[in-house]
Amino acid sequence: MNRPDVMTSFTTGLADINLDETDGRRAGAQAAAMKSASSSIYDMAATLSGRGELWNWGMCDPDLAAEIEARLPGFAEFGTDGFSEQLYYLALRDLPGGLDGCAGQTLLEVGCGAGEGLNFLSRLVPDTRMTGLDLSPRAVARANATLARGDSLRFVQGDAEDLPFEDSSVDLLINIESSHTYPDLDRFLREVARVLRPGGALSHIDVFTRQRLQTMRRITAELPQLTWATDHDVSAAVRAAVRRRMTPGSRFRRTLDRQRMNPLVRTIATHSQILMFGGMFAGYRPPASIRALSRLGVVPWMSGLPMESYRHQVAVRV
Ligand SMILES: C[S@@+](CC[C@H](N)C(=O)[O-])C[C@H]1O[C@@H](n2cnc3c(N)ncnc32)[C@H](O)[C@@H]1O
Repeated sequence: MNRPDVMTSFTTGLADINLDETDGRRAGAQAAAMKSASSSIYDMAATLSGRGELWNWGMCDPDLAAEIEARLPGFAEFGTDGFSEQLYYLALRDLPGGLDGCAGQTLLEVGCGAGEGLNFLSRLVPDTRMTGLDLSPRAVARANATLARGDSLRFVQGDAEDLPFEDSSVDLLINIESSHTYPDLDRFLREVARVLRPGGALSHIDVFTRQRLQTMRRITAELPQLTWATDHDVSAAVRAAVRRRMTPGSRFRRTLDRQRMNPLVRTIATHSQILMFGGMFAGYRPPASIRALSRLGVVPWMSGLPMESYRHQVAVRV
């Protein structure tokens, strides 16, 4: 598949999965096409994104930032704005045992991208044995080449819907801004329940359309192995982070601005980057130049999916 075909397959697949009003179970050729497009897109991201960059929309909560700063002074000095790290911090802090309960535990991240988020967590809770799993072979190869440290931090390629781990072999499992691309959410959550040991916990963070949230609620009601402890809407903090990143002069914008490209290409690249990092969710309206290019058919018009909320949910394995 060439690049425009991959993008088309990915956006069509995303719409199909997230606007589904039926049972949230996609299989066969349609699911395989979505996974192949997803894997190609994140292979590209693994090639293009810089060291230390995470791949989620982030959240901006000054209290959380202060908590992280108290534990890891200067945590964002490695070249990021620290917003994406806040989501990772939240994922561990709100587990039933909190951050201190992670010591000596095994932690699996499903959909770890190039591993930068897990690497950040490994600095926060160094006594936790961490494994990251991702569908994208290049993201996993990059994570293993740049971040892996023996049994403390390792990365494997695999599919969230078919986890390559034994039953009851994982203490804690996190999943951040990844499950909205899985064709079969039911299968993923059953895999989570299978690999978690009794008493183990899941921290799930993602963006939801109205339909996808309904699907998730239906699936979880039929899955007694997981008891849902919390479901927090963190949309306001996520929107705040996206808006800060969209502001000209932000660290996010400067990263792009440093790259050599002609002004038109820069405008299009900035627009695409804003769309990928939650712009529509935060009320972004493309500039007049992009609207004009879209009318001419040069830039595809992307209204984005009607994402309604960004949530953090915690479940305990019965
Ligand atoms: C938006 S990125 C988030 C990455 C990381 N969690 C973060 O917050 O920076 C979504 C990730 O999910 C991965 N992914 C998508 N479908 C997957 C699947 N079926 N199994 C495992 N990983 C998958 C992608 O390859 C990508 O790395």
